[in-house]
Parts: sequence; structure tokens; C-alpha cells
Amino acid sequence: MCGIIGYAGQRPAVPVVMEGLHRLEYRGYDSAGVAYVRRQGIGVLRAQGKLMALEEKLASESAVSMCAMGHTRWATHGAPSERNAHPHTSNDAAFVLVHNGIIENYQEIKAALTAKGYVFHSETDTEVLVNLIAEYAKTEPDALHAFAAALREARGAYAVCLMARDEPGVIYAARMSAPLILGLGTGENFVASDIPAFLPYTRQVVFLDDGDIVRLSASGHDILRLEDLSSVVRAPQTIQWDMQAAQKGGYRHFMLKEIFEQPRVLADGLSGRVLDGDVLLTELDALPVPRKLHIVACGTSWHSALWGRYLLEHWAKVATQVEIASEFRYRQTLLLEKDDLVLVISQSGETADTLAALRVAKEHGAQTLGLCNVLGSSIARESQAVLYTQAGPEISVASTKAMCSQMLMLALMALYWGRRKGCLATEERRAIIADLEKLPIVLEQALPAMQHKARELSRKYAQARNFFYLGRGHCYPLALEGALKLKELSYIHAEGYAAGEMKHGPIALIDPVFPAFVLALNDSMLPKVVSNMEEVQARQGKVIALTNAGVKVQAEDVWIIPDMPGFLSGFAALPALQLFSYETADYLGKDVDQPRNLAKSVTVE
Ligand code: F6R
Repeated sequence: MCGIIGYAGQRPAVPVVMEGLHRLEYRGYDSAGVAYVRRQGIGVLRAQGKLMALEEKLASESAVSMCAMGHTRWATHGAPSERNAHPHTSNDAAFVLVHNGIIENYQEIKAALTAKGYVFHSETDTEVLVNLIAEYAKTEPDALHAFAAALREARGAYAVCLMARDEPGVIYAARMSAPLILGLGTGENFVASDIPAFLPYTRQVVFLDDGDIVRLSASGHDILRLEDLSSVVRAPQTIQWDMQAAQKGGYRHFMLKEIFEQPRVLADGLSGRVLDGDVLLTELDALPVPRKLHIVACGTSWHSALWGRYLLEHWAKVATQVEIASEFRYRQTLLLEKDDLVLVISQSGETADTLAALRVAKEHGAQTLGLCNVLGSSIARESQAVLYTQAGPEISVASTKAMCSQMLMLALMALYWGRRKGCLATEERRAIIADLEKLPIVLEQALPAMQHKARELSRKYAQARNFFYLGRGHCYPLALEGALKLKELSYIHAEGYAAGEMKHGPIALIDPVFPAFVLALNDSMLPKVVSNMEEVQARQGKVIALTNAGVKVQAEDVWIIPDMPGFLSGFAALPALQLFSYETADYLGKDVDQPRNLAKSVTVE
């Protein structure tokens, strides 16, 4: 899961590619590199570390060119180092390649090439692939045929860009189970892992399919099928959002901006979906109400799914099972039956395990529904039906507004199926929808004070080495999410627990320096949560209680957030958890938008 970009046009290509890499850096940031057409051959520059290191190297080069490509890496094969950084060059210097993904049979290919005398300077699968292309070029008529022949031999997932020394001004690209999008400009063309990489220059895009190969130059592009190099035409689409959405807009970090965007995300998500006290989900009209629903996802999207289960079972009476995609895909899914619906949730729509789980579900003959944020992503395209969240581009590696948008869609699904099944009284449904419509404004007003409180608490607790996050009912998945955010951003060990489980073991860990963040919201579970909180305090554990005005709780710190009825209180609790993690990480000097060892889109298993 890396970011790649290629450019052919009239502008100085290296700055265009570098700008694009900055917008792709969320996909990986342990090393980076560029390749560009020179008067003689292809110039390559690479550096370990963030893009700044590459920029420093470029400052002393005169990398003037109209055609270039670049890569920002999240290491899979081989440690982060300059040697393993892309682009990789073939032994004969005729081909240069950047690659996002994994070539699964690279060891086999490497052994065969080594026997033929090829020498490898890195530990990457990419260097193997570029040399395989060079090998095929000895017998194939041209670079295109050599490229296709090598890709037919490679197994795995990839999005690649190739430059051939003998075809300056041309970029070849191909996609197989990894995102790749064409950007069509006037007198210039782009190819990249994600749209923001070229959005300042064009909004006309073509989403490539698996098995597509592209030949791109300043004057045009051809799309061919890998199997037989037959031409295909794919209609361009116009992207509606603009660069504003993909920039920080005055905030210190993307994460903070994205947390503060949540009122807008809720308003956009509701727009066109609620009308006269009813929910419109026309995408689902043709599907039966599921007898059984299986939700599959990873990470934060999995937490949304766990939260949604409470609403789907309560409002729609749909039996719901939630699974981690990396487990689901390899399990004997005996429970899966033909008329079950499998809902796969993924912000990026490219997460490898979730995509694989979707394919497993299809093999079992189950109906599939995708809930994605990224338009044209693999999961969106491969699901039988798709619902899009309206979060807009999420750049910060840690997911925030995407979870809010997924929770909203799950709430709408529960209301929609509840109506279709006739198990949710009209009055109750209308009251919930009216409350949902109030959410954007309530949150908008509450967020500044929430940030203030989060900052104050972060100063007090930033030195903790461990944290519990406790909740019950729908607040349990939120506790899991709070813990995930704290650990991934601030590197403080945090565990989310169902508060009722503490006494079955974990409470042994509690001592005066092991605090607990307790979700004690004003709902039916409150008395139980308060008892669990008292059990922690009885063992000298310090508690931050996230609660609502009027609730009587005794705790070291009490944090009052807006009171929304029932499950909807989750929408107010979520930003509080996000802001506490954000402020703690920022106070500790951590890289909030790009935490160590992570990447935004996990396109490898
Ligand atoms: C955590 C985070 C990850 C993602 C997970 C799934 O902040 O961002 O846990 O939620 O990698 O990603 P998607 O939703 O793109 O499938």
C-alpha cells in the first residue's frame, strides 16, 4: 500500500509528480522516489524517509522533464531504505517501474532470472518485476507487449507505472486489485493511486478495471485488456469535490479538520436520504430485508459495524453478526446462507481483507452490499449493491469522519428496514429522524468546547502508559474505537473493554497510574456502567467519565457532552474520543496525520 503517480504533459513534470506525492503520502511514508525522462535515458532519485528527504536531494539536481512518475512507500518486501525505495530499474536500464501491491510469486521469478544472470540490488518484488519485463523485451516486439507478458506471469495485487527508455514521453500503467485512476487533462494526462494526486489539474477521471493496461502520453491515452491487448473504452466521470476538500483549510492537521467536518458529514449524509419523516435508501429497494445480516470490516470500520448492530437489532429486528474481515475470509462460514446479506464496510473500498471477504461471500452465493466512501473503489464496484457515505476525502491516516458517516448510514439502514418489516412504530421512527436532523447543528455548536476539554484532559493524562476505555451496549464499540485512536496516534497502550467484563480478569491491572475512560452516557445502561466505574475506583483507578448534564457520577474528571436520545448519543461521544486522542498525541509531539508504521489504505493482507 503505497502511492504512485505518473504524468505526461507540457508542465515541468517532476514538480507535478512531487505535489501529487504529497497528496498520496498518507498511503505510505517510509521512503519515496521519482523517475523522469532525461535527454539520455531515465533519471531516478530516491530517498529514505518522508518526502522532505527526497525534496532535499532534488534541490541539487536539474530534473527538467515533461514526463515523470513517482512513488511513496509503505514497506512490504524489504525494510524501509533507499535501496528498497522505488522506482526500480532493470539491469539493462531500459525500464523503470513503480509499484503498489505485492507480487506473490516473485521468489520463483527471481530464481529463474538469477539463473539467467540478473543481479538484484534490493529485496523488493518490484525489482524482480521490472527485470522480468526486460527479459520479455528480448523476445516481444515492443515495450507494451513485454509489459503485458510480464504481468501475465505475475500473481498478486498491483498497480504499476512503467517508463521505457526507448519511448520517452510515454507512461505505461496497469491495475490488478489495487487502485489506479486516470486523470484526463488538456495536453496532459495523469495516472495515480488516488484522485487528490492530480485534482489541481483535472476533474475528469477514468476508474480503471482489474486487468486494464494504459498507454499514456501528453496527447492521449489507450486502454487495453491485459489478456489479449484488445482496446476498451471507459467513460470518464467528473469529480464533484474540489481541492478545498483535500486541503487542511487552516487547521493544524488533517485529522483536526476532519473531526470538525463531522457536522457537515452528517448534514450531507442526511440530504436526500430523509423526507417527510421517512428514510430513502433506493439502492436497497430491490433487495429483500435480510433474514440475517453479516457485517464484515476492519479497524475503525469494524467498530462502526459493531455499533450499527445494536441499532439494526433494536430498530429493524435483523439478526446481525459482525466479523473482522481477516478472520471471516479464512473461516468455514457455515452460518452463511443464500438469502443472507453480507454488508462490507470500508472507507477506502480497497482494504485487501475486506475485499477478499466480499469475494468469499459472493462465492457462497450470499447477496452483497458495500458501504464505501471512495467512489469507484474495488469494493464499491464488486458489491451487488452499494451505498456511499458522504464523508468526502479522508486524508488523515487515522479515520474519524468516515466512522461518523458509516454510523449515520447504519442508523438509516436500521430505520429503513425497521419500516419495511413493520417493526418500528411510525411515531418512533419519525421522532428518531427528527433527532437525527438536529445532530449537525448540535455537534457544530459543541465541538469547540469539546476540543477545549480534550486539551485540558490530555495535559493531565498524557503521561499515562496504559488506558482502559469502558462502555456497555452501543458504547462498547465506541470504547473500542477510543482505545484504537489513542494507541495509534499517541502510542499509549489502550484497551477497549465491555465494562461488565472488567471483573472477569482485566480489573487486576487497575492501579493509581492505570486510568479508565468510561462512557457513562444517559441511557438505559447507565446504572450498570456506574457500578462498573465504582469497581474501578474502589481499586484506586482514576476515571474520566464521559457523560451528560444531569447525570450524577463521581469521578476524577467528568466530561459533559450534549445529550442526544438513545443510540444517537454515540454521535456526540465519538468526537470527544477522537479529540482526546488528537490532543494527547499532539501534546506528546507525535505525527498526528501520519502515525508511525501505518498507512491509510491497507491493500495488502
Ligand atoms: C484506524 C483506521 C483503520 C481503518 C482500517 C479499515 O484509524 O483508519 O483501522 O479503519 O484500516 O480501512 P477501510 O475502512 O478503508 O477499509
